[in-house]
Amino acid sequence: MKGYRCSLFILFLFYSSGLFAQKHMQTEILGNTESVTKQNNVLVIKTKEAEARVWVYSPTIIRVNISKVHGTDSSFAVIQKASKSLDYKETAKEIVVNTSALKLRISKSPLRFNFYTADGKALSNDDPRFGVNWQGTRVVNYRKLFADEKFIGLGEKTGDLNRRGSSYVNWNSDVPDHNPKSDPLYETFPFFVGLHSGLTYGLFFDNTHKSYFDFGATTDDTMSWFGADAGDMNYYFFGAQSVAQIIEDYTWLTGRMEMPPLWSLGYQQCRWSYTSAAEVLSVAENFRKDKIPVDVMYCDIDYMDHYKIFTWNKETFPDPKEMIDKLKAMNFHLVTIVDPGIKVEPGYKQYDEGVAKNYFATYPNGEKFVGSVWPGRCHFPDFTRDAVRKWWGASFTALTQPGVEGFWNDMNEPAAWGQDIPWMVKFGNYYMPEIRNAYGMQMARATYEGTKKILGNKRPFVLTRAAYSGTQRYSAVWTGDNSAYDAHMLLGCRMVNSLGITGMSLVGVDIGGFTGDPTPALMVRWNSLGVYTPMFRNHASKGTIYREPWRWGKENEAIIKKDIEQRYRLLPYIYSSYYQSHKTGMPVSRTLAINYTQDTTIFDTKYQNQFLFGDALMVAPVESTKFTEDVYLPKGEWYRLSTDKRYEGDKVVKAQAPLTDLPVFVKAGAIIPMQNVIQSTNEKGDGILEINVWYGKEANNFIYYEDDGSSYDYQKGVYYKRQISFDPAKNAISLSPAEGSFLSKYNKIKLTLHGFKAGIRSVKVNGNALSITDDAVTFENDNKLIRIDF
Ligand code: GLC
Repeated sequence: MKGYRCSLFILFLFYSSGLFAQKHMQTEILGNTESVTKQNNVLVIKTKEAEARVWVYSPTIIRVNISKVHGTDSSFAVIQKASKSLDYKETAKEIVVNTSALKLRISKSPLRFNFYTADGKALSNDDPRFGVNWQGTRVVNYRKLFADEKFIGLGEKTGDLNRRGSSYVNWNSDVPDHNPKSDPLYETFPFFVGLHSGLTYGLFFDNTHKSYFDFGATTDDTMSWFGADAGDMNYYFFGAQSVAQIIEDYTWLTGRMEMPPLWSLGYQQCRWSYTSAAEVLSVAENFRKDKIPVDVMYCDIDYMDHYKIFTWNKETFPDPKEMIDKLKAMNFHLVTIVDPGIKVEPGYKQYDEGVAKNYFATYPNGEKFVGSVWPGRCHFPDFTRDAVRKWWGASFTALTQPGVEGFWNDMNEPAAWGQDIPWMVKFGNYYMPEIRNAYGMQMARATYEGTKKILGNKRPFVLTRAAYSGTQRYSAVWTGDNSAYDAHMLLGCRMVNSLGITGMSLVGVDIGGFTGDPTPALMVRWNSLGVYTPMFRNHASKGTIYREPWRWGKENEAIIKKDIEQRYRLLPYIYSSYYQSHKTGMPVSRTLAINYTQDTTIFDTKYQNQFLFGDALMVAPVESTKFTEDVYLPKGEWYRLSTDKRYEGDKVVKAQAPLTDLPVFVKAGAIIPMQNVIQSTNEKGDGILEINVWYGKEANNFIYYEDDGSSYDYQKGVYYKRQISFDPAKNAISLSPAEGSFLSKYNKIKLTLHGFKAGIRSVKVNGNALSITDDAVTFENDNKLIRIDF
C-alpha cells in the first residue's frame, strides 16, 4: 500500500515537473496581449507566446499572420503588397481595424480575431475558447461554426460541393487509382469560401506545409478548423459580399491567367502513348479524313529516349521536325510531356549540367537525392532557385526547335516510386515538408517562363498536374488519373468547378477516364460534357482501349463528331469567357454557388454537379446509363439549347437526356456569339459571327472579345472588343463600336433571335438603316455602333 502511494507521488511529481508535457507535445495557446504597436502599415500585437501582425491589402482583404518566430516573409502565391495605410482604434479590451467594407475586432485577452461587415454583421470569428494554438510545430486556428454555414472551394478535392461536415488534407500526391472520396490528391489550394446568414467571406491560408481543413467533421459540428504541420498561421481574409467578388479579390491577390492560345481551347487528343511518329501522324490524318474538328495531338512519355527529359527516341521519332511539320500542315499543334526526374546517367546532357552546377535536390550533407520514376534512378531539379528555373526553361529548345508549342508537366508532386521523399531532402532553402505542395507550381513556373522566353511573342501552353495557389499565372491543370466510370465523370465536374473558385479557369479532366475502359455510352456522354469543360482533352492510360472518336462504331462516332463540332461553333463565346477569366478571375466553368449562392437547392447532392459554362449556359451532367434527368432550374427563365423550349425557373424539370442531347439550358436574355463549324482554330471559317439572343424579361450584356489568339499583342491594345446589349424595355439589341486595334476575322454578323414574339424591325448602323428580311439577319461588320430594333 505504501509503495503504491509512493509511486503515485512520484507520478505526480513527474507530471507537475512538465517532463510529461515535454514528452507528449503540450498545447500552447496564444495568450493575452502584452503590447500593440503600429509599424508603418502593419499592426504588431505581442503576447507571451507569439506575435500577430495585421495588414490591410484592400478594403475587402485583411491579412493576419501569427507566428512564434518571425522569419522571412515570402509567398509563392501572393503577388500584391499590403496597402500603405491601416486604420485602427484601441480600447482596454480590444483593437478594431476598420476598412470601408470590413471590421476586424481583435479581443486582447485572450487574443482572438473576429471579422465583421462594416455594419457589424459577424462574418467569421475565432472559437472563443481556442482561437489559434500550437502543438509542437503544428499550428491550428479553431473557428466558430454558424448553424447554416456552408463551405465551398479548396480546389481539386473529391467530395460534395458543400464541404460542411468533411475534412481534407493538402499534401500533393500521385494517386493513380483514386476514387470519388480519395484525399489528398495532386494539388493544394488552401482557399475556401464560407456562406452563412445570407453573408459571404473567403479565407486563404497561405502556408505550403502539409495542411488540414475540417469543416465541422471531427468537432461534433461545433467548430471548423484549419492548420498546418509547421509554419505560420498566415491567412488572408476576404469580406466581399458576393462569391464572384471574393474570387475577383482572391485572383487579384494571387494573379490571373493570361489569354490562352486559342488552339488550346479546341479539341485535344492524347494517349499514353502514341508510340511512334507514324502513329501520331496516322491518328491526326484520321481526324482530318473523318472531318472531326481537332487542334492538338500529344506525345506522352514514350517519345523520349529511355524517358530522358528533353530527348527524342531516335528509332520511333527519328525526325521530330518532319513529324511536326506534317502535323502543322494539317493544322495541328503538338504538346509533349516532361517530368521533373532527370535520369542518373553520365553523358546525358541534363544530368551532366545539373550535377556540374549543383542544380539538384540534396540531403543535408550535400549528397544528391535519388528517387526512382519512369527512367529509373533520377535526380530532381530544385525549381525554387532562379538559376535552376532558367536552366530548365532554356532546355526546352530541344522541343521548341522542331516545333513543339505545348508543355505538359507531369509527376511533379513530385512523384517517386515509394511516394514520400525523405523529409530531410533539401530544395534550396526548403526542406521537403515545406516545399512539397509548391514544387509542381515552381516546375510549371520554370516551364512557363522558359518557353515564353524561347517562343518570343508566342503564347506557350503549359499544363501541370501538381499545383499550389497562384498556378493560374503559369499553367492550366488537369485532375490527374481519373477512372472510366460514371461517378468519376460527375466528380470531374465538381472538381473543375471547385478549381474555378480557386482561380484555375483553364482546367480539364481526362475525357473517357484515364484508368479502365469506358463503355461506348460513357465515352459518348463524357465527350458531350467535354464540350462544356474548359479544357477538352481525351486521354487514356496504357493498356486501355483506344479512345479516338472512330473507335466506337459509326453511330457513336457521328454523335461524338457532332458534339466536337458544337465546341468549335461555341469558340467565340468560349474565348470571350476566357477574357473574363483573364480580367476578373471569374472561371469559365462555374458552380451554381457563384451565381445562386443563397439558393439552398443547388447544394442538394442531386443537383450539385450542375454548372454554368460562361455567363449563359447551364449544363446538367447525366450518367451514361440514364436518359432522362431531374434538372434544377434556378429562379428566372430558361430555354433548352437544343430545342429553344422555354421553362420557368425555381423548379425541377424532367429533362430528356438521350446520348445525342446532353441537357444544356440557356439563361433568358443570354447573348451567345458562335461561328460556323471549322476543322481547327487555324481555319478562318466563313467569316460570319453568329450572334444568338434568347428573349428574357431582364436586360443583359456580353463582352465580346477577340484577338489573334496566339501572340501577346493583345497586351498592347491589339484586340477587338465590343459590348453586345439586350434591352427588352427598349425592344433593342445593340453592339457598341469596336475597341482596340485588332480587325475582327468576322466580316459579317448574323443575328438570330430565339423565343422573341416579334421579329427584327430595323437594323441601323451608325443611324443608317439596313434592309432586312426575316428573324435571322446578316449584315456587314463595320465595327460601328449597331442598333437592332425588334
Ligand atoms: C501519369 C499521368 C498520365 C500519363 C502517365 C504517363 O500517370 O497522370 O496522364 O499518361 O503518367 O506519362
